[in-house]
Amino acid sequence: MTITPDRFQDLTRRTVVLGGTGTTGRRVAARLSAAGVPTRAVGRSTPIPFDWTDASIWRPAVDEARAAYVAYSPDVAAPGATEVIAELLETLHGAGVEHVTLLSGRGEPAARAAELLVENSGLSWAVVRSAWFAQNFSEGYLRPAVMGGVLAIPAGGVTEPFLDVDDLAAVAAATLTDARHAGRVHELTGPELLTFDDIAATLSRAAARPVVFADVTRADFIDGAIADGIPEDVVVVLDHLFSEILDGRNSSLTDDVERALGRPATPFASFAEAAARAGSWSDAGGASPSGAPVADAAAAH
Ligand SMILES: NC(=O)c1ccc[n+]([C@@H]2O[C@H](COP(=O)([O-])OP(=O)(O)OC[C@H]3O[C@@H](n4cnc5c(N)ncnc54)[C@H](OP(=O)(O)O)[C@@H]3O)[C@@H](O)[C@H]2O)c1
Repeated sequence: MTITPDRFQDLTRRTVVLGGTGTTGRRVAARLSAAGVPTRAVGRSTPIPFDWTDASIWRPAVDEARAAYVAYSPDVAAPGATEVIAELLETLHGAGVEHVTLLSGRGEPAARAAELLVENSGLSWAVVRSAWFAQNFSEGYLRPAVMGGVLAIPAGGVTEPFLDVDDLAAVAAATLTDARHAGRVHELTGPELLTFDDIAATLSRAAARPVVFADVTRADFIDGAIADGIPEDVVVVLDHLFSEILDGRNSSLTDDVERALGRPATPFASFAEAAARAGSWSDAGGASPSGAPVADAAAAH
């Protein structure tokens, strides 16, 4: 990544990555660190802990930071998220943080409420509003379904523009280091619209194991997700999201990845081949890009 210093920025000051051990956060943190930006990735078990449910411990995590990346858990569209983001923004103000980049979800009215708080926060801001992560199938809550050979999702024939999280992390890192990306909602999609049938076929080829898509009812999805070990509170969020966003509202492409990075977004097949080479669907249990165990199911869609 090339850092473009801006006279309004001091890249010797720290960037804090909230959700820094998660799917997007650890990639954002790795990119910033590789570029020489002092970076603190925080989660509930990091040396300086950060817990969304306990605002009394937020300040040490964000003190002395210039910028913050915010990946809210379990989901920015979950009930209560807006109130927590509002409290976080106050804390960031109080700590002298100058810039915030919020990870948001495409087509979710509840996520838009959090985006508006960030846009009106008085801080320098950027929103990274993402389509479904491709990595949901390799590291996230849909990996057990891939391993079991059946993607049971109430999706019908809807198309979605699945996004490689490495592209998202590159754009997020740019918003955190280059002021030209600030003050914008970056609506990120992959380069193609795919049905879940298409996804199953591509995963079958890349992972060299049979994977099929099954269009199920919401009730069947809930039963299957719980059987896959997804925590019940997360299943509730997923069910709500799926009922809301799997109606074709996100069946369109943007060129925001290319506009931010100067190169096209990564095709799903390229993601799948790279994930297979990295052992994501090996019977040994899969690996994250950092070598850590695959993430627990946590964030939605
Ligand atoms: N999945 C998708 O397709 C998709 C698409 C668009 C937007 N999103 C958004 O992505 C966000 C999630 O980001 P992600 O996928 O990068 O994360 P993730 O892989 O779901 O990991 C969750 C991260 O948050 C931390 N965390 C969990 N509970 C926490 C708590 N109570 N307090 C503090 N930290 C906590 C985890 O660390 P510890 O467990 O170590 O604490 C981890 O770093 C959600 O807001 C969702 O709306 C997801």
